[in-house]
Amino acid sequence: MACILQGAYVSSHRQLKDKDGSEPRPGSSVVVRAVVTSTTLQTLNTTPPRPLKERTEGKFGRFGGKFVPETLVSCLSQLEAEFKKALHDEVFQEELATALREFVGRETPLYNAERLTEYYKNKNNGEGPEIYLKREDLNHCGSHKMNNALAQAMIAKRIGKRSVVTATGAGQHGLATTAACAKLGLECTVFMAAKDMDRQYSNVQFMKLLGAQVEGVNGSFKDAASNAFRCWVENMEKMYHLTGSAVGPHPCPTMVREFQSVIGKETKMQSMKKWGGKPDMLIACVGTGSNALGLFHEFIKHKDVRLIGVEAAGLGLKSGKHSSTLTNGEVALYHGAITYLLQDEDGQIIQPHSIAAGMEYPGVSPELSFLKESGRAEFFSATDQEALNAVTVIKFSAYERLCKLEGIIPSLEAAHALAILDKVVPTLCNGHKVVVNCCGRGDKDVPIVLHRTTI
Ligand SMILES: Cc1ncc(COP(=O)(O)O)c(C=O)c1O
Repeated sequence: MACILQGAYVSSHRQLKDKDGSEPRPGSSVVVRAVVTSTTLQTLNTTPPRPLKERTEGKFGRFGGKFVPETLVSCLSQLEAEFKKALHDEVFQEELATALREFVGRETPLYNAERLTEYYKNKNNGEGPEIYLKREDLNHCGSHKMNNALAQAMIAKRIGKRSVVTATGAGQHGLATTAACAKLGLECTVFMAAKDMDRQYSNVQFMKLLGAQVEGVNGSFKDAASNAFRCWVENMEKMYHLTGSAVGPHPCPTMVREFQSVIGKETKMQSMKKWGGKPDMLIACVGTGSNALGLFHEFIKHKDVRLIGVEAAGLGLKSGKHSSTLTNGEVALYHGAITYLLQDEDGQIIQPHSIAAGMEYPGVSPELSFLKESGRAEFFSATDQEALNAVTVIKFSAYERLCKLEGIIPSLEAAHALAILDKVVPTLCNGHKVVVNCCGRGDKDVPIVLHRTTI
């Protein structure tokens, strides 16, 4: 028996009479599927099944949707209604624009990475693309996560919630949410895997300083996310669940993408000003997909702009210890939506791995799943080693390169996007414009990098 949203499917094997009216032969059965409403099972056997009402909102091709228990449907519908209202409310939009400017520090620069460009040109007879960085690391609290956290915290306040619950992997979303809650006078609880609390220690301390209650959880980010969800379900009256990932049931992926799309909108405006055209290629790392979609979304309709997502290949795709969901996953139902997922033959989730805590998630945004399947975006993966280049004594690993050539310390998540330059730059024409989303700053990762490298 399969269950879809509020309606339940039943499958009944009905014996058919043979054409001549005689009793059926053994084995001549057919599966009858119908939606159970108030109709009795008796009637079901005689009424032809009605076609299912197609729900397209929150769908990206065959991906996405809202597969949740009945009790959550009304909460998600309320959230969707408030989100739509906020999108069209000039007062809200004005307040958000002011906060993004004055609290977050937007717009972030589209930075011409001249020495990084030179580095690649020197390897290729003086030719190669020009590399630009979208400096999301310069946002207040050090990452793109603030764009969405602030907007959703404002919605939480608007609908009268007093407290916010969330989950974080790298701590950047937790930190952004905590700061937004402090600004708006909301209580904040953050669930985080104990191992992530250890490796992203500075962010835990920052969250505590800003007033959050940080709850440790066994497992990884996906377990923290499940705990945050459970906490919300038990306290729905006063609590808002603030997701930082472009995953989960509708409207979450759409809402997160929409609030992150400021990244691509600014990039388009800035590139027009800087060189009078669009970029030729956009590159972003993919954990759940929020920074990638934030950069890509404005350009999806511009087919001449290549969209490149970089997943975490961890210890290598063959090792089984990675987070390359789009590269190696299968289509499944996970956390309330249809998307790609890392699972074994028994449908059990494979524990994801990455040196970057923010990349460790077994699922991925349903919208990115669609962009992959439709061929509009291309996906690569970079190993821990490629992001770090820990053991190599060749001058400048991907990580060091940005530090030592441009004076910028990237997060390990952003280092995955930078690492793929080694592969794509040699394939690009002289003068092409490449924009890499520098989605976070690396303060939180300094102990890991120093431990693993020869810097
Ligand atoms: C700085 C940073 N970049 C990237 C990511 C990956 O998430 P997403 O793919 O949703 O942008 C995270 C996740 O925590 C992060 O903290």
